[in-house]
Amino acid sequence: MSAVLSDATRTRFEREVAKYPAEQRRSAVIACLSIIQDEQGWVSRESEQLVADYLGIPPIAVYEVTTFYNMFNQQPVGRFKFNVCTNLPCKLRDGQHALEHLCSRLSVEEGGTTSDGLFTVQPSECLGACADAPVMLVNDRTMCSFMSDEKLDQMIDGLRQAAAAEEKA
Ligand code: FES
Repeated sequence: MSAVLSDATRTRFEREVAKYPAEQRRSAVIACLSIIQDEQGWVSRESEQLVADYLGIPPIAVYEVTTFYNMFNQQPVGRFKFNVCTNLPCKLRDGQHALEHLCSRLSVEEGGTTSDGLFTVQPSECLGACADAPVMLVNDRTMCSFMSDEKLDQMIDGLRQAAAAEEKA
């Protein structure tokens, strides 16, 4: 059975499309993909097809957007996603080291997710905060600057404790 948009998702899509002239509904593609990711945690090929069908554009046009912006997850990710900038300015100031430290501490490869599903670690393009290197973005929302090994360790421990406390509650 092929997937269909739920009424709730369709309503959210409609709100986004209404922001553009009728002949430019494709302009809502990023907003629609963000809604999918918000609801499902990632954007599957099947979901790309649904967005393409809804907007009346070729699936490749949606795929190009999903693969261009690395905020879109093309596979399921952990509850906490760490995007560590490894572009040149950051690389010159320990960006790569920060990424490797996280991978080593969490025993994952780059792009991998811990077996408990809590953390995903991946390299990122420039996050626009080069002077603060090493920098990382948590869950596409929270920018963290000057991430020394100690700060990275504290962050992991803090997030683990918060997750454990939530589970108990
Ligand atoms: Fe890392 Fe710009 S190069 S934030």
